[in-house]
Amino acid sequence: MMLELRQISSAYGAVQVLHGISFTLAAGEILGLMGRNGAGKTTVLKTIMGLVPQRSGSLSLAGEEISHLPPHAIPARGIAYVPQGRRLFSELTVAENLRMGLLVNNAPQSDAEPVLDVFPILRERLTQASGTLSGGEQQMLAVARALCAKPKVLLLDEPSEGLFPAITHRILDTVAQLRRSGVAILLVEQQVKSALRVCDRILLIENGAIQHDAAARELAADPVPLERYIGVHR
Ligand SMILES: Nc1ncnc2c1ncn2[C@@H]1O[C@H](COP(=O)(O)OP(=O)(O)O)[C@@H](O)[C@H]1O
Ligand SMILES: [Mg+2]
Repeated sequence: MMLELRQISSAYGAVQVLHGISFTLAAGEILGLMGRNGAGKTTVLKTIMGLVPQRSGSLSLAGEEISHLPPHAIPARGIAYVPQGRRLFSELTVAENLRMGLLVNNAPQSDAEPVLDVFPILRERLTQASGTLSGGEQQMLAVARALCAKPKVLLLDEPSEGLFPAITHRILDTVAQLRRSGVAILLVEQQVKSALRVCDRILLIENGAIQHDAAARELAADPVPLERYIGVHR
């Protein structure tokens, strides 16, 4: 398994938010993480990145325990994180933002080329300040910057938030294509239709615990768990 969480609990100060989270993520797999607001989705990603202190449980990357590592050491081990609300350096140009991604491994400039092949629109915007890009382009840049680090695991927190459906569609199609590169993807997605289309498997989280773990195909055929844990119809 590329990423494995076993009985992970974590807390903000005295407030425990995650309660015994366990799941696995394989290379080339897209695993969806869905649940209502406040269910703990972002906290799962932050805990993996070491940004929220883990209280118990184990976290391994390609069979190696990483829960003892400080937050700054995690990206260099091969986990890239695109936070909710795409935090770019908005005064920096597209090229400079990509360079920040390359710095994780001290990778040469040429390593940005395959990433720009995935998002060709960014090639036309290289010298533009990233704050002047459209919302969709900014999200593409946030993902592209993460990919410049050649991650084994990519964590995406609501990449489609605030985007037009057509743009969401394009970004998620691109994410789906990343399967071929073997990267393992954990995707937080609020839109049921989008999640069912792009994910191989979906975890439903409520109150900081995984309540349901099923193939996307299974959930498409029987949406009862989706209605129960997200409260929406297909
Ligand atoms: N920095 C924080 N300090 C204290 N509690 C937090 C903090 N961030 C999130 N929480 C709480 O943790 C729970 C899970 O939040 P979060 O992981 O952001 O949920 P989601 O991403 O599913 O909407 C919520 O009850 C939220 O209020
Ligand atoms: Mg969130």
